[in-house]
Amino acid sequence: MTVNVLFAARPDHWRIYEAPLKKALSDRGVAANLSPDLAPEEVDYIVYSPNSTVQDFTPYSRTKAVLNLWAGVENIVDNPTLRIPLARMVDHGLTQGMVEWVTGHVLRHHLGMDRHILGQDGEWRADAPPLASHRRVTVLGLGALGEACARMLVRLGFAVTGWSRRPKDIPGVSCLSGDVGLHAALKAADILVLLLPLTDETENLLNADTLALLPEGAVIVNPGRGPLIDDDALIAALDRGHVAHATLDVFRVEPLPAEHQFWAHPKITVTPHIASETRPETAAEVIAENIRRGESGEPFLHLVDRESGY
Ligand SMILES: NC(=O)c1ccc[n+]([C@@H]2O[C@H](COP(=O)([O-])OP(=O)(O)OC[C@H]3O[C@@H](n4cnc5c(N)ncnc54)[C@H](OP(=O)(O)O)[C@@H]3O)[C@@H](O)[C@H]2O)c1
Repeated sequence: MTVNVLFAARPDHWRIYEAPLKKALSDRGVAANLSPDLAPEEVDYIVYSPNSTVQDFTPYSRTKAVLNLWAGVENIVDNPTLRIPLARMVDHGLTQGMVEWVTGHVLRHHLGMDRHILGQDGEWRADAPPLASHRRVTVLGLGALGEACARMLVRLGFAVTGWSRRPKDIPGVSCLSGDVGLHAALKAADILVLLLPLTDETENLLNADTLALLPEGAVIVNPGRGPLIDDDALIAALDRGHVAHATLDVFRVEPLPAEHQFWAHPKITVTPHIASETRPETAAEVIAENIRRGESGEPFLHLVDRESGY
């Protein structure tokens, strides 16, 4: 039997996803009619990104699952018209990209690279950085991305603390959870990496009170979501020197408006939501595997818990 799969993501992405998706489905023996243009009542699966024009799922009467191309689901998880399973993207290409970005930015701050890259002024600054074992890095969020980053930071020798909603056990990582755990995790953060999803619980998690728990001179690296941080509290903490630097990849409004104070702030590095992205070849495997599972009555992978919001 042929399944109808609607590609409801950015139109220009159809060009790059069509071939890998077709191959991955065919490799699994799934006969599929994959198209960006199908009548809603004929659709069995929707390959989705939240910037798609599909926002009302009511007409998709026989659809079995929505398969998100993004890891973050905050723009779809509360959609009241969506009453079928929603899977988020866990793609090893995306994970590898995030590990590389986080590691690079942590090492930048750990090694004090800016001092030398920006300080080619004839002054011999012979202060060597400490070893990674003397640098404490905390990762908030130990999911697909946070855990992979924490493991890589451990391999580099950093003293890594992690924090998640439920208790975790990751070799080499001091794993904490709950409110008490958050306080300890923040106090142990010379460098703080945010890899939490955006939910009602995590919005403004870094605010004036929690920023004050960070050690003096801490650095923040946020590839998670912009609203995890209270922007005004961050600026205040940077301006009084409590936080030394923030490297931000994600923002409340994206693209970050050209006149936004973050761009010109001397202690903020803005990167334009490029920490990592879904990679078509590897993501197609995940989507195809979920369609295969749906067709053979096996449970879907990476289902979103609508209650928790991620
Ligand atoms: N900048 C980029 O390019 C980019 C790319 C991809 C993703 N992202 C962002 O990265 C986020 C994380 O992705 P992921 O795939 O790692 O997500 P994930 O697998 O769902 O992991 C989320 C982690 O956050 C923890 N968490 C959630 N709510 C919490 C709370 N209230 N208190 C404490 N911990 C909480 C979870 O705890 P449990 O383990 O206990 O469930 C889990 O460890 C995405 O949601 C997205 O916002 C950014």
